[in-house]
Amino acid sequence: MTTPRVAVLGGDGVGPEIIGAAVEVLRVCLPVEIEEGLVGGAAIEETGNPLPEATLQLVDSANAVLLGPVGGPQWEGRVRAEEGLARLRRQTGAYASLRPARHLGVPTPIRESIARHADIVLVRDLTDVYSAAGSAAQDPAWRQSLEDIRRVAHLAFHQAMRRRHRVTAIDKANFLAASKTWREVVAEVAGEYPKVEFVQRYVDTTSFEILRAPHRFDVILTENLFGDILSDQLAALVGSLSLLGGASLGVRGNLFRPIQDSEPDVAGRGIANPAGAILAVALMLEHSLERADLARALEAAVAIAVREARTPDIGGRATTREFTDAVLKNFAWLRWADVPEAEPAGRAEWGV
Ligand code: IPM
Ligand code: MG
Repeated sequence: MTTPRVAVLGGDGVGPEIIGAAVEVLRVCLPVEIEEGLVGGAAIEETGNPLPEATLQLVDSANAVLLGPVGGPQWEGRVRAEEGLARLRRQTGAYASLRPARHLGVPTPIRESIARHADIVLVRDLTDVYSAAGSAAQDPAWRQSLEDIRRVAHLAFHQAMRRRHRVTAIDKANFLAASKTWREVVAEVAGEYPKVEFVQRYVDTTSFEILRAPHRFDVILTENLFGDILSDQLAALVGSLSLLGGASLGVRGNLFRPIQDSEPDVAGRGIANPAGAILAVALMLEHSLERADLARALEAAVAIAVREARTPDIGGRATTREFTDAVLKNFAWLRWADVPEAEPAGRAEWGV
């Protein structure tokens, strides 16, 4: 690949601070051409539009997009900042969001003996009616096709094949008509993956089960609205909304961003936690820049950094700068370590 072009949209609130830290880390990983643009409230202020034409062009010409949280109390009027994100998803033909959540040894609201088993990837469908809310909902041509459901389901099973071989598909098929179709199509796809243990569950009881017994979950595959809610719940399980990176995969491009909100009360104080933004860079390295090796090293660097330098959201007093430095320091040597993609299945043990 020639030098990749990465569009960087800082967004609102703490966005520019945490995305600034993430870009610093990205530049250390590999040579990239960075081009900055506006989205969300910041874009409304400048242009009246949460996704201006210039940003659209930037996104279309980039190999990947790194994006901060959007929104804030000052943009809750007629044009909402979040509409910028919704339009970006449509522009890139987004069909799925990957949101990995792993317990990193930081305090969480859930008992340590339970939370420490959390290592879950949530695969959220981005094509259903929730993503069409707003302008697209009025478009009579819009509807979710069975192909959309199959595509996101295959993605979840592919993830599971590289992990612990278990997919829990979550819906509300005992009540919602759309969920019934979803359930049938997902079950059909599951049939193609006999090596993956597959269960289907209703969202209400499962949201309880996730907090009670997270070790039972490996890959969670779910509909858009449930995925939105459950991913914030996973963040509580591992300790902070700022600990999760997300990848939105689309037919015309991928978007990477922390799943957290813009935290207006924390903005400008130099104490925002950039971990989720940096983990979004790891997802970018893997899914858009063909560098899964660097992604693994970066994830490992973040896991060590949260033990060395904790920002206030995870119970410490470190600044954004100190945490970023801890990541860079650990990454500097971890990148040369041989981090295997996955342990080959059925590998024989040997004694010494
Ligand atoms: C998320 C966010 C967005 C969503 C909002 C900002 C539109 O909550 O990515 O989880 O609901 O998709
Ligand atoms: Mg959300």
